[in-house]
Amino acid sequence: MERIVIQGSAPLRGEVSISGAKNSALPLMAACLLTERPCRIENLPVLHDVKSFLDLLRGMGVQVESRGGSAELRADGLQRVEAPYDLVRKMRASVMVLGPLTARLGAAKVSLPGGCAIGVRPIDQHLKGLAALGAEIRLEGGYIHARAGRLKGAKIFLDLVTVTGTKNIMMAAALADGRTQIHNAAREPEVVQLAEVLGLMGAEVRGAGTDTVEVAGAPRLEGFEARIIPDRIEAGTYLLAGAVTGGDVCVTGVCPEHVGALTGKLADAGMDLREEGGRIYLKGDRPIRAVDFQTAPYPGFATDLQAQMMVLLSLAEGTSVLSETIFENRFMHAGELRRMGADIQVEGARAVVRGKGRLTGAEVMATDLRASASLILAGLAAEGETTVNRVYHIDRGYERIVEKLSALGGRIQRVT
Ligand code: EPZ
Repeated sequence: MERIVIQGSAPLRGEVSISGAKNSALPLMAACLLTERPCRIENLPVLHDVKSFLDLLRGMGVQVESRGGSAELRADGLQRVEAPYDLVRKMRASVMVLGPLTARLGAAKVSLPGGCAIGVRPIDQHLKGLAALGAEIRLEGGYIHARAGRLKGAKIFLDLVTVTGTKNIMMAAALADGRTQIHNAAREPEVVQLAEVLGLMGAEVRGAGTDTVEVAGAPRLEGFEARIIPDRIEAGTYLLAGAVTGGDVCVTGVCPEHVGALTGKLADAGMDLREEGGRIYLKGDRPIRAVDFQTAPYPGFATDLQAQMMVLLSLAEGTSVLSETIFENRFMHAGELRRMGADIQVEGARAVVRGKGRLTGAEVMATDLRASASLILAGLAAEGETTVNRVYHIDRGYERIVEKLSALGGRIQRVT
């Protein structure tokens, strides 16, 4: 079992380059199922989830050539239309093959993802959208069985904002006959990149980045070439690493507007931030002020940065109140941070954090990807040694995190 061991309280200093966004790489790989033409993706992050998704596609008969950060995918010989349980349960994003397979082949068998540590995470909206496009959806044996002739454009009103739900429906609509309108759509930058790629493939997509996305489908789609946008959650995590260690960190190769909600809150917390082109500089060697915040769909404060922000608030002077409005169980890191001396009271969807100014190292356990990032940040800020167990979570979403933090002066190592 691998663990990460950190000697804390050294201010991080220097530059860190941000990798391609995991949550854009996954839908773009799914999009290759919409065509028999070759699709080329650059700036892929080298992550466990990207590898798992490529394995899933290979299992369906997709030809995959991947070298480091780029991949060429060709779905011209699809044999299986199945995403099996043992893969989907480990990576829920696999459910994004459902829309493309149903649209391209008229058939798909995808395991229901089941629950996960941070919440129930149903996919009812994905199914509602596909059914609206004319797919026949049957749930049996823990699997979704979808069947369809040519899908037909439709007007879809989503009951709530869902990122992968919006993407699944957009991809299916790209091969549907006629126009589809998705109301209450997710507005994430990764949705915008998918819309650009579907446009390159021959669908006509308008309104991506707003709450209404319109897709005019095409009978057949071309391949595409795309370079994955920078990972805004990774960027935010490294900015917070600089803030919690009182350091001086610059993240490079980013889109500052993608992390606007975070940088705004960091400024409110007393951090000194400067943006210049694709770089954001943070100077954190100053008193940390308590701030309140709530998570929200983009462009609001990202739920994937909530756990990391809680570490900063644990070190602040004063009391902060944070609300997690996206997932119903995303405070599991609080218990582990309390073991490091944090004073956090969880009350339903709210957490009250009484800043203590310091944390002390401990042995802790990661429960999900972003919780493990927050425990690593806490270890970097704490006095003494911290050991983070179950590091397989962290390797799903952060490329070379130990190397990148070490290069910033972090005293961190991976031990088996
Ligand atoms: C995406 O998950 C991201 N994953 C998550 O990042 C991110 O936390 C989440 O969006 C919210 O921003 C990927 O893109 C691979 P949702 P997704 O559908 O699409 C409920 C990470 O750390 N809901 O937007 O699965 C759902 O339960 C991961 O990289 C329904 O009720 O999230 C949740 O409470 C973690 N029915 C809320 O909506 C549905 O049909 C938002 O979920 C769909 C969702």
